Amino acid sequence: MTNTELLSIADKAMENAYAPYSKFKVGAALLCKDRTVFTGCNIENATYGATNCAERTAIFKAVSEGQRDFEAIAIVSSSGDETFPCGICRQVMAEFAPELKIILRSSSGEETCYKLMELLPKTFTL
Ligand code: THU
Repeated sequence: MTNTELLSIADKAMENAYAPYSKFKVGAALLCKDRTVFTGCNIENATYGATNCAERTAIFKAVSEGQRDFEAIAIVSSSGDETFPCGICRQVMAEFAPELKIILRSSSGEETCYKLMELLPKTFTL
């Protein structure tokens, strides 16, 4: 699975985003170590606070199906530019995969692979 392929799966997942409030659609594709891919989109709510991000949708789908070994996650949004995961999603990623790779695509089409620990240094752990 290439970064480009994972990003295209995230593009497809973004089509299911439910974002009537922000109009900001997000898609994610989570690659497990066994090469399974789980997708996610953001799912908003009239209460706003009950909104779930695309990344956590994908991670929670995977964990609920018994998968906990993650290699990479590709994230895209309707901005068309690099969309970094929010703080809560970074913390959820760190719970299962401190070594996770985060694959983003800029508006010029450049793909960059970040390490989760670059984005969440000095992570809280118990
Ligand atoms: N959102 C995500 O899905 N992932 C992020 O990492 C950042 C924000 C969603 C939540 C909300 O539906 C919309 O983007 C605007 O914040």
